[in-house]
Amino acid sequence: MNFPYQIKSLEEYHSVYKKSEEDPEGFWGEIASNFHWKKKWEKVLDWNFIEPHVRWFLGGKLNITENCIDRHLQELGEKPAFIWEPNHPEDRVRIVTYNRLHKRVCQVAQMLKNNGMKKGDRVCIYMGMVPELVYAVLGCARIGAVHSVIFGGFSAQSIADRLYDAQAEYIITCDGAYRGGKDIPLKGVIDDALIGNRTIKRVIVYTRTRTPVSMLKGRDVWWEDEMDFAETQVEKDGVVSFPAEETDAEDPLFILYTSGSTGKPKGVVHTCGGYMVWTNYTFVNAFQYKTGQIHFCTADIGWITGHSYIVYGPLSAGATSVMFEGVPTWPDAGRFWEIVDKHKVNILYTAPTAIRSLMGFGLDPLNGKDLSSLQVLGTVGEPINEEAWHWYDEHVGKRRCPIIDTWWQTETGGILISNLAGITPARPSWATLPMPGVHPVLVDENGKEVTEKDTHGLYKGNLCIKYPWPSIIRTTYGDHERCRTNYFATYPNLYFTGDGALKDDEGNFRITGRVDDVLNVSGHRIGTAEVENAINMHAGVVESAVVGYPHEIKGQGIYAYIIYTGHQNDPDLNRKNILQTVSRVIGPIAKPDKIQFVSGLPKTRSGKIMRRILRKIAEGETQNLGDTSTLLDPGIVEEIRKGRL
Ligand code: WTA
Repeated sequence: MNFPYQIKSLEEYHSVYKKSEEDPEGFWGEIASNFHWKKKWEKVLDWNFIEPHVRWFLGGKLNITENCIDRHLQELGEKPAFIWEPNHPEDRVRIVTYNRLHKRVCQVAQMLKNNGMKKGDRVCIYMGMVPELVYAVLGCARIGAVHSVIFGGFSAQSIADRLYDAQAEYIITCDGAYRGGKDIPLKGVIDDALIGNRTIKRVIVYTRTRTPVSMLKGRDVWWEDEMDFAETQVEKDGVVSFPAEETDAEDPLFILYTSGSTGKPKGVVHTCGGYMVWTNYTFVNAFQYKTGQIHFCTADIGWITGHSYIVYGPLSAGATSVMFEGVPTWPDAGRFWEIVDKHKVNILYTAPTAIRSLMGFGLDPLNGKDLSSLQVLGTVGEPINEEAWHWYDEHVGKRRCPIIDTWWQTETGGILISNLAGITPARPSWATLPMPGVHPVLVDENGKEVTEKDTHGLYKGNLCIKYPWPSIIRTTYGDHERCRTNYFATYPNLYFTGDGALKDDEGNFRITGRVDDVLNVSGHRIGTAEVENAINMHAGVVESAVVGYPHEIKGQGIYAYIIYTGHQNDPDLNRKNILQTVSRVIGPIAKPDKIQFVSGLPKTRSGKIMRRILRKIAEGETQNLGDTSTLLDPGIVEEIRKGRL
């Protein structure tokens, strides 16, 4: 494929950015015309940030799978869409060509139809990183069903909450998943989530680990049986077809749950047209993707990074992706480098937490691995510290590969601020410049744009975006008001990201991290309120307060202060029991790293917990705790300080 909209120089970036500012509708209309539409849009954009109401490519009709698969078949049919690397290094690699992907997606679409699924239905997908997960996602998109992928680290209770919230009636899962040395019993977790459930009509189970599972008559069916049957329906005389459903540009494509500062996770909704255009545009420009390159994004498809840069972005560009089932440190810490060497990876996209964890193993795991195929490196998910940036640059990229630091969020659908590989300058720990069409501003607490520099000569404030881009969040599923209050009500007429940032005179941005009560643990978003609610469900817990603290590998660790009045004789067991409770309620990813039992929490006279103080203590700052005179019981601070873990 060729990409007429790929930016080729710094000057071009500036002129393209200017054009996107002056005539956004003309600009995006032109880019969107590079895709396959069943019917062209009538209007490019309709928006306000008050309700909020954002619609892109109004009246346009398309099916995203035709753009990700069918339109490539003639030219790229026998080219790999995926190179699948299994968890166990000695197992067989699977190569999925675009022709094969087309066949499998048609079969899945037929299978879903045979099982009663139709346009608009919500389908929950809870699978390991196997190619069938991609087939399932795209099969849903083919029939216009709305997929809701749930990461394998979430518990039965979390799944039940999400099924209920999305009013889902269908599930696609695996018997189990391999992750490093562990087998995760996915179907067993689904069964627990479905105890007492009466709304789920069908569970389709793909066999991966041959873990024994219960199969309920009338509800549970095997993927393999259903696919065999569907094959006879979609393939006639060697020709495979399943008509792609016509969806509106603004029909929902998927729901993805993510944590906020309050309440339960929210279902972020993305739509077909804008999301397609944005993931493709940013894939082609930020990574500077060239036809034929091999792209390896190490994320899990259970997170937005996997949705946008394993599935939709690369496929819409006809790229070849490496899809990895396992984890970076199993069977040893050389796994990523071995994969790069084995599959001649050109673009590597990973998280700072993975880099920091691999740094910890020294340079031995890199020995003897040929990394000369690498051309572009990327990071995502959290701020990257300079040390990790330089290690990545020196030992992985051998100082030959541009590194892009891509800032974005589940709600933004794709990359909003990043350098363009080799085109716009990189700067360690800076995400640098906004993508065309993105207008970031820094505001103070009152929503006023920051115009004064701090002592380091930088502008500092809360990061907002003042104009819509095609893949901006449309709503939170089933509760539009929540979308408004979370993102559009803090500062009138602005989308508020929840992040703090610095900006220099050239307009480069450095993201400093969340300014709300959301933690970023190993690149996973977790709300402190969510963890507190889970801890408080444990018998014997009276109250808790959760804060983040700097963690060498995870970026942030979870520190919990807990008032516990249950049995006191075995604090260690109490701690473990609380961790079990959190695992049950949310999932193992939300388990606190540290639990300190306290007799009280620092509260103001009106009963508000002074988190600032708790954060400082968790961070190891014990002297300068600020003003504690407004506390109900200043003595408690001293006790907590002394008991710090
Ligand atoms: C953080 C992940 C600094 C940020 C794609 C954001 C980053 C949250 C970067 C979104 C980056 C993501 N530099 N911080 N390059 N990328 N973040 O929804 O705090 O899982 O708000 O999306 O991750 O996390 P989410």
